[in-house]
Amino acid sequence: MYSVPKLADWSAAALDAAVRELLSALESEAAQVASEAEWRMFRDRWLARKNGMLTQVNDLWLKAAPAEAKREVGRRVNELKPLVEQAVEAAQARAHGAGAKSRLDAERVDVTLPGVQRPLGAEHPVIRTMNEICGVFRAMGYSVAEGPEIESDYYNFEALNFPAEHPARDTQDTIFLAGQEAKPARERLLLRTHTSPVQIRTMQRQKPPVRVVIPGKIHRHDAPDASHSPMFHQVEGLAVDTGITFSDLKGTLDHAMKALFGSSVKTRFQPSFFPFTEPSAEVAFSCIFCGGKGCRTCKQSGWIELLGCGMVDPNVFEFVRENGYDPAKVSGFAFGMGVDRVAMLKYGIDDIQLLFQGDVRFLEQFG
Ligand code: PHE
Repeated sequence: MYSVPKLADWSAAALDAAVRELLSALESEAAQVASEAEWRMFRDRWLARKNGMLTQVNDLWLKAAPAEAKREVGRRVNELKPLVEQAVEAAQARAHGAGAKSRLDAERVDVTLPGVQRPLGAEHPVIRTMNEICGVFRAMGYSVAEGPEIESDYYNFEALNFPAEHPARDTQDTIFLAGQEAKPARERLLLRTHTSPVQIRTMQRQKPPVRVVIPGKIHRHDAPDASHSPMFHQVEGLAVDTGITFSDLKGTLDHAMKALFGSSVKTRFQPSFFPFTEPSAEVAFSCIFCGGKGCRTCKQSGWIELLGCGMVDPNVFEFVRENGYDPAKVSGFAFGMGVDRVAMLKYGIDDIQLLFQGDVRFLEQFG
C-alpha cells in the first residue's frame, strides 16, 4: 500500500513525479471504497490530523524541504489538499449509493406475490354456547363466577349433603387424585363431578342475596361414546334471597329455555332427587326438531331432558349459616345444565367426541 516517501531530490520534475504517484494512489484507493465502513477508513487514512497522508505530506515534504524549495513545494502541497478532499467526498457518495443499492436488492419486495394468509380462529362451539347461556342469565341480573376444576371432597360432596356412602363418592364414578389415602376424606382432591361445589364457594364468599351462574368443566369416570365423555361442561345457577319459591325457579328456567331454543318451546318439570336440593326436578323442553310429536332426537318422547334443579336444601344452608344463610330466613333455587348437550342440539352435532378431538375441519365450521 502506498506510503508518503521522503524526498531527496527537490527538483520540479521529482516533485511532479512524487505528486503523480500520490494522486494515482489516491485514485485507486478511492475506487476500491465499496461500503460506509471502508469509506471511513479511507477518509481517516488520508485526512486524519495525526499521521494522515496529507499530514505526512506536510511533514515529509514541506517541513523537510530546503529553504530554496519551500515555495515550490508549498504550492504543490496546497493544491493536494482540495484534491484529496474531493476524492473523499466522491467516494462517500459512491459508497452510500452502493450501500443503498445493495440494501434495495436485499430487501426487494415482490408486490405481485400473494399475501400471507392468516387463518382466522373461531370460538369453540362449547365456549360459544356457554357464553350464550350465561348471557341469558346476565340479562336477568345474574353475575358470573367460576371455581376450581380440582376440588375437595368437602365442596364436591360433603357440603352438598351427599351421605358418606353415596355411590358418586366411589372411585368407580369419580376421578380422584392419586396418593391421598393419608388425608381425611373431606380433604381428598378429585376432579369435580359437577359445578355445584361452586354454590358453596359462592355462599362462603358472598352474603345473600345471590344470583350467579357458574360455567365450567367437569369430569366423571365414564367411558367415551357418541353421547358420553369423561370431561364435559355445565352451567350452574344459584339464586338465594328472602321469599324465593319454586315458581321463581320454574319461571326463570322456562324463560331461559325459550331464550335459548325459541319462544315456542314448552318446559316440563318432573320430580327428581339430588342430595342438595329439596324438592328436586328434572327439566325437559319440547323437542325443537319435531315440535313435540316424537322423532329420533327426542326418542319419540317429544321431550328433550336438559337439566337438574331444585330448591336449595336447608342442610346445605347449614354449611354456610354463619355467613347469613339461616334456612329459616332465606330460600333459594339451584340448577345445573349440560352445555355440550345444548351445543349439540343447537348445531346439529351427533357425536359429542367431535367437540373434543380438535379437528380443525370440524371447528372451522363455527367461524
Ligand atoms: N349438579 C347436578 C348434576 O350434575 C345438577 C343440579 C345442579 C341439580 C343444581 C340440582 C341443582 O347432575
